[in-house]
Amino acid sequence: MDSKIADLRRNYTKGGLQEEQLPENPIPFFKQWFDEALKSEVMEPNAMSLATVTSDGRPNSRMVLLKGIEETSIEFYTNYSSDKGHELEETPFVAVTFWWPELERQVRIWGTAEKLSEKESETYFQSRPRESQLGAWASDQSSEIDSRESLKKQFEKVQEKFEGKEISKPKHWGGYEIEIDKIEFWQGRPGRYHDRIFYTKKSGSWNRKRLQP
Ligand SMILES: Cc1cc2nc3c(=O)[nH]c(=O)nc-3n(C[C@H](O)[C@H](O)[C@H](O)COP(=O)(O)O)c2cc1C
Repeated sequence: MDSKIADLRRNYTKGGLQEEQLPENPIPFFKQWFDEALKSEVMEPNAMSLATVTSDGRPNSRMVLLKGIEETSIEFYTNYSSDKGHELEETPFVAVTFWWPELERQVRIWGTAEKLSEKESETYFQSRPRESQLGAWASDQSSEIDSRESLKKQFEKVQEKFEGKEISKPKHWGGYEIEIDKIEFWQGRPGRYHDRIFYTKKSGSWNRKRLQP
């Protein structure tokens, strides 16, 4: 064992969670925590780990950016033909994790992903910087490419194609909304007595319990 790594640990002291102070609906509370992460200048508060399930039943996770919090769902955008796109086509269940170290907080979300409408995706696509729009056309996300030079060529080709023109959204690119059915708020506490408040949704209403750390 690498003792330098094994000795890395922090004592968490910044806050606490009392179930009596938590609302019945966890989504506004998630919004509140997200706003607090923004105010605390967490480097990329909307960066979240997104886990999907592969065709052979294995988990697969990567970071994506949260792009919206709705009444019952959260949203992100990607390439529908990427590995995650194919995985979601087959199994729509996902697990999402946020870690906001400045606040000593973790949020875990479980749910079912569904594509946003073409209109919603197009509206968001048009709000993106031109460079990101070109990227959506130029990169066949998750496919192999023989060299960085080839990737550069692909980008230049797309740049030329759209020179002086408006860029429309490619069909293979768009958003997903994750309909939330479970969410857990974790607040680090001293001495490893962390707070974990876990919500599950059944028949439209939320049930709340405390879990051992
Ligand atoms: C902080 C961060 C944010 C990212 N945000 C996105 C995103 O919003 N959408 C996306 O498709 N990929 C995003 N990526 C890249 C993904 O992590 C991943 O490399 C890519 O989507 C391909 O994943 P896949 O092959 O599993 O489909 C992000 C990476 C990082 C490190």
